[in-house]
Amino acid sequence: MRERYLGRKKGAVSQLLARLKEFAPADKPRAGQAVNGLKAFIEASLAAALERRAGDAGGSASAWRDHSLPPSELPVGRLHLIADIQRRIEDIFLQLGYEIAVGPEIELEDYNFTKLNIPEHHPARDEQDTFFLEGHDDRVLRTHTSPMQVRYMLEHKPPLKIISPGKAFRKDDPDATHSPCFHQVEGLLVERGIRFSHLKGTLEAFCRSFFGPDIVLRFRPGYFPFTEPSAEVDISCFMCRSGQGAIQAGDCRVCKGSGWLEILGSGMVHPRVLGNCGIDPEVYSGFAFGLGIERVAMIKYGVPDLRLLYENDLRLLGQFG
Ligand code: PHE
Repeated sequence: MRERYLGRKKGAVSQLLARLKEFAPADKPRAGQAVNGLKAFIEASLAAALERRAGDAGGSASAWRDHSLPPSELPVGRLHLIADIQRRIEDIFLQLGYEIAVGPEIELEDYNFTKLNIPEHHPARDEQDTFFLEGHDDRVLRTHTSPMQVRYMLEHKPPLKIISPGKAFRKDDPDATHSPCFHQVEGLLVERGIRFSHLKGTLEAFCRSFFGPDIVLRFRPGYFPFTEPSAEVDISCFMCRSGQGAIQAGDCRVCKGSGWLEILGSGMVHPRVLGNCGIDPEVYSGFAFGLGIERVAMIKYGVPDLRLLYENDLRLLGQFG
């Protein structure tokens, strides 16, 4: 309507104004007054109509309503990206027959370190790296979800097949890839005759289900005191498909051109850890793995800075879940 009457060139009122010069000088003021009066009337009417509509949206009872208009959109809540990814990971392992076991965030230093074969003077035990609890010098905020391996092995007899999601804490200054509180998913399987190939097959099944069916895994030798042998696991970049896809690996913003993405730590449960937890390493063997949820979120959705996940800006969080 505004365009039709007040549009700068084609609007009816504008065209009338342009024609004022056709009036004799004596009639001009009256004609001008009439057209300007019309313009003011239309402007006021349009403004009033807009106000009525705004009143409608606000639900004023007296306001005129157009019941043919679509309803205004209601805000709908959704899962935070971290919770969403955690549940998707849980779903995949539930399908593989795992149980979910949740452990405490305040953990015995014994479970967090000692029983996991982390030596007395290991730097991870330092006050620089770990949150200790004042007045409870045997307790820490767990620095990983691995102590849940210990808890579960102490309380259950094999076969054991669990994942354990939850928060972990380290004294890191927040930056693009570090947060003093973060999330992990631990995995543990203990049974007779478990071999490294079982670990490989399990992680491959998980990664293909989570990231895509043509994902390839790369196992690199790694070191964790509680697994032997240990492996860091990379997946082929799902974005550039390690340079096989449309994007040249060198241009890929996800893998930064390497073609691979490091996603988890894993290994065969160290015989000493099995022994510490009352399981005979001569009879049983097992594998374990630990994966960072924030890291997976950043990789899968291209989140450039981990802190964004904790600022709770709905413009960001509303895009996921
Ligand atoms: N707990 C290790 C970490 O936080 C990950 C891990 C879990 C490695 C289980 C091996 C086996 O880095």
